[in-house]
Amino acid sequence: MLQGKTVVLGVSGGIAVYKAVELLRLLTKAGAEVHVVMTKSAQQFVTPLTFQTLSGNPVHTDLFNLYQEQEIGHISLADRADLFLLAPATANLIGKIAQGLADDLLTTSVMATKAPVLLAPAMNSNMYENPIYQRNQKLLREYGYHLLEPATGELACGWQGQGKLPDPELILSAAKSVLAPKDLFGCQILITAGPTREELDPVRYLTNYSSGKMGYAIAAAARQRGASVTLVSGPTNLSVPEGVSCVSVCSAEEMRSAVLEHYEAADIVIKAAAVADYRPVRRAEQKIKKSGDELVIELEKNPDILAELGEQKGARVLVGFAAETERLLAHAAEKLQKKHLDLIVANDITREGAGFDVDTNIVRFLHADGRVEEFDLMGKDQVANQLLNRVALLYQAKRP
Ligand code: CTP
Repeated sequence: MLQGKTVVLGVSGGIAVYKAVELLRLLTKAGAEVHVVMTKSAQQFVTPLTFQTLSGNPVHTDLFNLYQEQEIGHISLADRADLFLLAPATANLIGKIAQGLADDLLTTSVMATKAPVLLAPAMNSNMYENPIYQRNQKLLREYGYHLLEPATGELACGWQGQGKLPDPELILSAAKSVLAPKDLFGCQILITAGPTREELDPVRYLTNYSSGKMGYAIAAAARQRGASVTLVSGPTNLSVPEGVSCVSVCSAEEMRSAVLEHYEAADIVIKAAAVADYRPVRRAEQKIKKSGDELVIELEKNPDILAELGEQKGARVLVGFAAETERLLAHAAEKLQKKHLDLIVANDITREGAGFDVDTNIVRFLHADGRVEEFDLMGKDQVANQLLNRVALLYQAKRP
């Protein structure tokens, strides 16, 4: 969502300025072109050179700097931006914007822009609770500015309360949300992610290498595009994306129950989970002790959840995944047809950058109408958005 977008990162003065450095890193990593504007007091905490080095662009500090005005003036900055992101936004900055004051480069550019403005506030908790600040934030929201709530915790001034700058990852996700098309607004999406675990005994289980990253990236992107998202997840180390409702499961049987429970309400189902095809016939009550030279474990078939969903598909959009090591297209096409899918995402996990537990993927989309789309290596969030572009169209086409 941020790839190729121009973001003006406005930094105002507070101890949280150092976290804006991390935010800048995340923005550039996500593919954004970032121009930083710093207020005078922000420069007391971190030097412009830090932001300049990490953004690869000159940092703007002064409204009346002839050189900066000539290179890229404040109006041009305001015009070029796809997004204005103010982090940290102090109570002072928020107050000035709310009152229409434009007395430095940052406030002047914010006033002059038609781009969406997202503010990530940071201040002392008493300042946050002050009715004047509360009125200002309400006013800005009424004018269509996007304001995050500050986080709660221990503040730099020693106070405990609400006023901390939200986590940079959370600000990044909010920035993606602001820029995302809302083409999935009002629709219910059910997504599965991660591996399943099939228990052998109280200390052992069968599983696979799935990290859950692909499914979680789809859940985050779908939420940013306005969908109500239920994520049914096998065991992973990932945090649940903002605004997503997550049901944690362990075995394939548990995943099946959770998916069927939410299937009725779903408009779209995306099954990115790597479900174990077999489970031990018996789960030993006690730890299996070492005995002979060989141990034979008898397995029985797990239900194929997606095939079952395909049988009772109705007007839903159904998407599956096929992670293969050989004959990619043939295997994926067979699954697409057998499970009554609208689209299947196929990837050859033997290719570098396309396996489990990496942040990238190399995919092909096979459509029910026979079309095949091939993509180069992309970040998993880019794959997620490419997939959702197609899913949104399928969803709209199926609506009465
Ligand atoms: N799937 C499922 N339930 C299963 C197995 C798979 O819902 N018991 C879903 C996966 O979430 C994925 C798709 O079916 O979206 C394909 O999964 P995959 O494991 O690649 O294929 P299988 O049909 O299990 O076939 P095989 O293991 O023989 O490749």
